[in-house]
Amino acid sequence: MPAHISPRDRLIVALDLADTAKAQAMVEQLGDAVSFYKIGLELTYGGGLALAEQLVKDGKQVFLDLKFHDIPNTVARATKQVAALGATFLTVHAFPQTMKAATGALKNSPLKILAVTVMTSYDDADLAEAGYAMGVKDLVSRRADQAKAAGVHGLILSAEEAAPMRAQLGADMLLVTPGIRPAGAAIGDQKRVMTPGDAIRSGADHMVVGRPITQAPDPKAAAQAIVAEIAAAC
Ligand code: C5P
Repeated sequence: MPAHISPRDRLIVALDLADTAKAQAMVEQLGDAVSFYKIGLELTYGGGLALAEQLVKDGKQVFLDLKFHDIPNTVARATKQVAALGATFLTVHAFPQTMKAATGALKNSPLKILAVTVMTSYDDADLAEAGYAMGVKDLVSRRADQAKAAGVHGLILSAEEAAPMRAQLGADMLLVTPGIRPAGAAIGDQKRVMTPGDAIRSGADHMVVGRPITQAPDPKAAAQAIVAEIAAAC
């Protein structure tokens, strides 16, 4: 785990909100407590890219969770656009062609590419149906090695996978974990959850947290409590 990341920068708040007005109101409410935001597909198609540019201008870091997967030329050109926008993290699916196209497009940009190895909604039966001869565990491990070989900066994975992946990939790969729930928080539709402190102790560099902050009675206090838990675990 790189020690130079501040506890506040390790927390990424998922702006899974219906429109940019609600997202902007949440960003204002969170103020200085949060420095890093994730914008996903839903908000991207609802004005989220303009919001991303504004957040960057305001000194925040932005994670665009767009999960690119296309022919290399298209992935490379789209990655350049995301880099020009000033985002910090971009997700791509962990297919070797796609990962190489994305990392090869960066040149001197500070944008970092995160790979999604296997979607957590997939199980072994889903992979078999899609024509894969291996199960989830083996495919995650294989794609993690391919991500490293392709120069990808980090992986998105459940906190449970952080410790084995850290052992497999070494210190340099960024590990970014969703499915985080502070002790006592509602689990919602997540199946495998970990507390912020346990995620850090398992080797996570950053964690993505949505509803435990955005649906809290006091979102700023909830974010500050998570940052304090991260700081204590670092
Ligand atoms: O609200 P919650 O904290 O569960 O939000 C988690 C965020 O992380 C959501 O934006 C969700 O789409 C994302 N995510 C996830 N599990 C994955 C990949 C992404 O929960 N495997």
